[in-house]
Amino acid sequence: MKIIVTGGAGFIGGNFVHYMVNKYPDYKIICLDALTYAGNVETLEPVMNKENFMFVKGDIADRKAVYSLFETEKPDVIVNFAAESHVDRSIENPEIFLRTNVIGTSVLLDACRKYGIKRYHQVSTDEVYGDLPLDRTDLFFTEETPIHTSSPYSASKASADLLVQAYGRTYKLPVTISRCSNNYGPYHFPEKLIPLVIANVLNDKTVPVYGKGENVRDWLYVEDHCAAIDLIIHNGKAGEVYNIGGHNERTNLQVVKTIINALGKSEDLITYVTDRPGHDMRYAIDPTKIKNELGWEPATTFDEGIKKTIKWYLDNKKWWENIISGEYQKYYEKMYSKR
Ligand code: NAD
Ligand code: DAU
Repeated sequence: MKIIVTGGAGFIGGNFVHYMVNKYPDYKIICLDALTYAGNVETLEPVMNKENFMFVKGDIADRKAVYSLFETEKPDVIVNFAAESHVDRSIENPEIFLRTNVIGTSVLLDACRKYGIKRYHQVSTDEVYGDLPLDRTDLFFTEETPIHTSSPYSASKASADLLVQAYGRTYKLPVTISRCSNNYGPYHFPEKLIPLVIANVLNDKTVPVYGKGENVRDWLYVEDHCAAIDLIIHNGKAGEVYNIGGHNERTNLQVVKTIINALGKSEDLITYVTDRPGHDMRYAIDPTKIKNELGWEPATTFDEGIKKTIKWYLDNKKWWENIISGEYQKYYEKMYSKR
């Protein structure tokens, strides 16, 4: 089996590449990644010299490059992680989100039509469902929840989902979509809440909490997400959407305090800053379908996962210090200095 993993030099794609290369020595795993600010070849270093792995630098919105890769490699499966993924950046500059997340997805789908494919899998997000109220803890996102987006990022991901479903119906492409809640774990880019907090606390820098810190996210350890996608591409039914989440809801303040306390630092580091415009209140996934149909359940609780994640950031300082000492400094200044 030959699998193209797009966005494999990013956080979740990178973890998925490691997972698949190690689990399936007989498969060929090809990572296609444009190496944007969020892509990092160092993330692929553990697999770079493995015989069943190949890295190709390229843009999913570049039709010629994508067709040429399909022509030479004739892949069986595509797993599309490649995306602009940060909500705050989408609020600053939506356009690149449309190019990569919508046009990029359409180019991949066209390549699948042209060259034939056994499965196209779209890695989507629970953000396409919008948000849930804080005071209705009985409500969860199911696969039937209507799409109702809040940010340019989530609107671009929802648009991509609609295209994937349209290609499934109109051209009979064998497509699946997964919508996962917030991931955390190794190789997470430090602009996102959990790695940003770990890095700032380790450097005795203040920790910016948006609004009152009462927004709720449903955290999933990244390896559990990888295992779910592995199951979907092998056993999932074409045309279906699968929600992925593990009932690990926490307020942002709970997450921040857990990290500060685990690192033995003072909660005085917490600084409340101006809220994110359009900030979604609560995400919470109902994972019943994937559990009943594919037997998937998360293996890692939030308490275990956050300990493993903090340990990884302590053991791999070089990986994230290289990032925060470079171009990222300018981003941090721009986003947080006057907030
Ligand atoms: P990330 O930002 O860490 O990585 C994205 C990767 O895509 C990078 O390696 C980047 O170089 C690459 N990329 C960007 N534009 C590209 C292009 N035009 N062509 C080729 N490669 C390109 O993102 P992530 O957090 O790992 O998220 C991966 C996917 O999972 C995204 O589609 C995201 O919407 C989805 N998702 C993320 C989460 C989460 O909590 N992080 C949860 C649910 C779903
Ligand atoms: O739910 C899945 C989504 O999770 C993915 O689709 C996105 O790609 C991914 O980035 C993530 O989106 P969020 O917006 O939930 O993640 P982020 O880490 O940016 O923020 C998590 C919460 O923490 C959110 O409520 C905003 C808040 N926050 C974030 C940052 C960066 C802060 O309070 N302070 C911060 O500095």
